[in-house]
Amino acid sequence: MNVLVVGNGGREHAIAWKLAQSPKVERVYCAPGNGGTLEVAQNVPIPADDFAALAQFVKDEGIDLTVVGPEAPLLAGIVDFFTQRGLPIFGPTAMAAKIEGSKSFAKRLMQRYQIPTAAYESFIDYQSALAYVRQQGAPIVIKADGLAAGKGVIVARTLAEAEQALFQIMQAGEFGQAGSRVVVEEYMEGEELTLLSFVDGETVLPMITVQDHKAVFDGDKGPNTGGMGTYAPVPHVSDELVQRIVETIVRPAAQGMVQDGIPFRGILYTGLMLTVEGPKVVEFNARFGDPEAQVVLPLLETDLLDVLLAAVNGELASVELKWKQENAVCVIMASAGYPGDYRRGEAISGLDHPAAKRTVVFHAGTKRTEEGLVTNGGRVLGVTGLGKNLVEAREAAYKGVQAIHFAGAHYRTDIGEKALRRQS
Ligand code: AMP
Ligand code: GLY
Repeated sequence: MNVLVVGNGGREHAIAWKLAQSPKVERVYCAPGNGGTLEVAQNVPIPADDFAALAQFVKDEGIDLTVVGPEAPLLAGIVDFFTQRGLPIFGPTAMAAKIEGSKSFAKRLMQRYQIPTAAYESFIDYQSALAYVRQQGAPIVIKADGLAAGKGVIVARTLAEAEQALFQIMQAGEFGQAGSRVVVEEYMEGEELTLLSFVDGETVLPMITVQDHKAVFDGDKGPNTGGMGTYAPVPHVSDELVQRIVETIVRPAAQGMVQDGIPFRGILYTGLMLTVEGPKVVEFNARFGDPEAQVVLPLLETDLLDVLLAAVNGELASVELKWKQENAVCVIMASAGYPGDYRRGEAISGLDHPAAKRTVVFHAGTKRTEEGLVTNGGRVLGVTGLGKNLVEAREAAYKGVQAIHFAGAHYRTDIGEKALRRQS
């Protein structure tokens, strides 16, 4: 079979890398791909939002399955576009992807099906939002309603911070259209957890648990990013807790969407807060996480192609996921300045000398040029270390990181530490 992966980040490199291992897969293409996907796939210079060109390519090359990595093409209807033309594609329709694309859509779904989440109000009027925030007090959470690349959320510790955030989003237009509506949420206290699930409408197949590190600096300091590192599985989360999350959150969400006539097919990403009252939803996403995919996929033993095909055909109920009895840690190496402005085009070295054989380097923002590999994004590389426990996986990841160089590279040095502190 031939497959096409749409996207150009570390997540898409991980998806292409895993699909390339399937004995049933002949050729993997990646559109547009990056400097790393070249190693496992053939890059196709078609942007992820050019659906007509992608569909034409799929027809011309006889591609059997298209897999969509990022949220933007999903929300723009790539799955609807392909399905209307009879082309098999893995991912949710534009309507179903709204579970990620519109926070108020997600909140209404959760309200309808009694899925635990923070209390919230949504506003289009600045003065009303301001009045509500003043009445609620801090800490409080302000979110731009639309997509803002993981950066449209402000956890305000003080009322002044909350008012400043409202002003930036609703008056100064910092997030453009995404900020024309804001959601103001109750602050939830607890540890965060991600649970990804394959979903084909009714059936929910949970993957292993993951913890992301969204803040840019060690100790969860600094502004939020798309994610600076992950580890999986999370050792202090029991099977019973995962079961509870599936039963009280993921399955009701999937079944609720079926009931509402907008079945979700694809990866449902559930971002959770483990509060004293139990697990509550922080957000849903309609795709693999990045860099969650970079730790989950290397631990998946089952052939990914089989799972994706089963999901597309509504046959997930007959699939059982198998996992390696190992741990994975992914450390993101970012460009100087990220998540703010950053430079591109810095030479990357050290990739040909794998410091640890238990390391896989997933490229996020890289480009292959005549002069060699250069940086081409904020998050540049995700270095995944594997080991028989978290300590070994971490060692492998950081050994890999230390061998790699580019000007201004920065990374967090504490990925996975929270879990280790609990074990000691
Ligand atoms: P989101 O984009 O909704 O995932 O939010 C980004 C980050 O903000 C989350 O990963 C949390 O760390 C934090 N956050 C979001 N909502 C809340 C909340 N209601 N209470 C506490 N922290 C939150
Ligand atoms: N790492 C967070 C996300 O992919 O949304």
